[in-house]
Amino acid sequence: MEFEHAVRQRRMVRSFTSEPVPVETVDEICDLARRAPTAGNTAGMDFLVLEGAGTAAYWDVTLAAERRDGFAWPGLLTAPVLVVVWANLGGYLRRYREPDKDHTGLGAGAKAWPVPYWFVDGGAAVMTMLLAAQDRGLGASFFGMFDHEPAVRRRFGVPPDRRGVGTVALGHPAADDRPSNSTRRGRPPLDQVLHRSHWRTARAPGRLAGRIEMAPDFAETPEGLIEDFEADA
Ligand SMILES: Cc1cc2nc3c(=O)[nH]c(=O)nc-3n(C[C@H](O)[C@H](O)[C@H](O)COP(=O)(O)O)c2cc1C
Repeated sequence: MEFEHAVRQRRMVRSFTSEPVPVETVDEICDLARRAPTAGNTAGMDFLVLEGAGTAAYWDVTLAAERRDGFAWPGLLTAPVLVVVWANLGGYLRRYREPDKDHTGLGAGAKAWPVPYWFVDGGAAVMTMLLAAQDRGLGASFFGMFDHEPAVRRRFGVPPDRRGVGTVALGHPAADDRPSNSTRRGRPPLDQVLHRSHWRTARAPGRLAGRIEMAPDFAETPEGLIEDFEADA
């Protein structure tokens, strides 16, 4: 598949058939993901692949039985493969204590990093997986673990220096797959997000293709929200 076609066609798939994905295909997808760039070439991603009883155990610890009836994406639970992506925070800190990186001071601890590159790199690895799945005619989606991360860590024996990036579901899209409400926001046109040479003044919210209401621009963020965010950081 052409790269541009894969990027344009990719969508988060949240309902899967039970058709299995060959183990070699899962390995290929993870092998491509480990080639995604990482800060200092830390190579700081691990991939926990779950199939069969493993996916059932994942859902047991992240989606309690009593919440399943009301769950918006029941078809997600049939995904034959879940890949939980873990960033090796300890590895990043050790890498940035090596002689060529020590001057950055980033080896001092996670708080020394203005941007947590382990999550930046995690995003690059996840995107590589999503595109690799698309390229192989599979469906895939990404979702976070939120406060279930400690339970997933315990259940699957993940070391304490790893940080959860999130989970990629892989499989064959089911006929009842539907887009999430978020997709109704559409994507802003290029000229709204591309700032050549200097930041341009935000445009008033408009309508795209006659149906999509554009999200309010950053300039309309409720007062205090950005300051609160900075104070928390
Ligand atoms: C960091 C991140 C977290 C996301 N978390 C969820 C999630 O928890 N549940 C969900 O249904 N979709 C989640 N999504 C999917 C987005 O809603 C989706 O990518 C977006 O609406 C655009 O749709 P598309 O990817 O199908 O083009 C997440 C996407 C990203 C990048």
